[in-house]
Amino acid sequence: MEQQQRGRSAGSAVDFQEPTAADFHRRPLSSLEACFARRGDHFWIPGRQLIVAAPETCRAVLSNRDGLYEDDSDFFHTRLGTFGPRASQVAIGRSFRLLLQRHLDAHRPELEQVLWRLRSDTSRWPDAGNWLIFEHLVAALVGSGKEDEERLLRQIVRHGVLAGAVQRRSWWRRLLFRRHVARSLSRAIQGRRRRPAGPPEDLLQGIVQAVSSKVPSDLLGEVLLSTLFASAGSIGFTLGWCFYALGTRATTDAAPAWVVREALRLWPIAWLLGRRPSRSHAVAGEAVDDDDQVVVCTYLLHRHPDHWPEATRFLPHRWATGQPSAAFLPFGWGAHFCAAAGLTLELVEDILQHSLDGHWPVVTQHQLEPQVSAALAPPRFTLSFDRRRAIALSRPVSEGPPGVAHPGLAVACRSADSLLTCQERR
Ligand code: HEM
Repeated sequence: MEQQQRGRSAGSAVDFQEPTAADFHRRPLSSLEACFARRGDHFWIPGRQLIVAAPETCRAVLSNRDGLYEDDSDFFHTRLGTFGPRASQVAIGRSFRLLLQRHLDAHRPELEQVLWRLRSDTSRWPDAGNWLIFEHLVAALVGSGKEDEERLLRQIVRHGVLAGAVQRRSWWRRLLFRRHVARSLSRAIQGRRRRPAGPPEDLLQGIVQAVSSKVPSDLLGEVLLSTLFASAGSIGFTLGWCFYALGTRATTDAAPAWVVREALRLWPIAWLLGRRPSRSHAVAGEAVDDDDQVVVCTYLLHRHPDHWPEATRFLPHRWATGQPSAAFLPFGWGAHFCAAAGLTLELVEDILQHSLDGHWPVVTQHQLEPQVSAALAPPRFTLSFDRRRAIALSRPVSEGPPGVAHPGLAVACRSADSLLTCQERR
């Protein structure tokens, strides 16, 4: 509350009920939207967090040109601290791009078969998207034929990546599982360290080769978890949002490239990017110091009415002539811009292209609200494909009443450590 009073228009509200910490915990999106509508594109929320959602402010924070923030990114921020040095982070990004590109090129025919099966069955989402991407990329992550490692990653997806999976387990089962994961990943990393030098064969080896042999194995394991979260998690959810939007909105002839961008605009998977000030300064006219967090909220940025006409509608055609606004940062900005953004977009576009060829997605919703944690995941729905229907459903979707138990607006709950620890940290 003390922090909220630092907001520029806090206190002037007569009819505005200030969301409490509990509101942000239970209904993070609607609480943020309410503050945005009332107070504009920067405001304080409980926990000394300054939310920013104006494009120039968001870019300034993320580009960190004057070193006003600790050098950090969601991807390399782990439960055990920030993975570094920066040169190793850059080397990992480069190695990921090469290995993923090679893998995607080599495995395109298998993907087409998987999509053919997807089209002929009914599938339950968003989990189906996470599994589809996992199965397609697992050999890039740990190489082919590594049954033990694949089994371990599959367990991690089941208990840590799928939407709501973390919240379904008790804290002590999560603790035991986390220890099991740490031990098993350490063994896998030691195995990679014993391999003769040479170009990396998989992403895990790419991580190992980017750092000195003195870096502890459990820290490298955390980076592999980030990678799994980004691939099976973030790409899977992006795909889920695309099908969800196409199956529930009136959309006819949109190109896959527009669909994926518009889905990421309305529902950015990385919907909060937090930065810790390294020294006192002012951002958007607000004084912040090193006890605060400045949080770029891509969810609000992407729905900013000054930058997006009909901001809350799914309108893929707005992308027909290129990026229509600078208020679009689904992959971050500046030095920590996502290392796999281009490949990710290409992969999702490819999947949409193949699965929609002559078919239309039919969605039955089982939930109305997004599933919100460190990632913004779609509501649960069933997907099938209809061969006969040439044009889309015109059924508009109600956003519905709040009802999903959200794990809260903990910015500290970053991608890698959110895997098992979101709730424990609160
Ligand atoms: C839809 C999928 C994805 C989304 C939405 C996404 C989003 C992001 C965002 C927002 C950042 C910046 C984080 C920050 O500044 O705090 C980031 C960084 C990063 N992402 Fe992704 N990502 C995705 C997929 C992937 C995949 C598949 C990989 C690799 C397998 C990957 C690797 C990375 C790396 C290495 C960084 C850190 C770059 C650096 O600090 O130099 N991402 N991603």
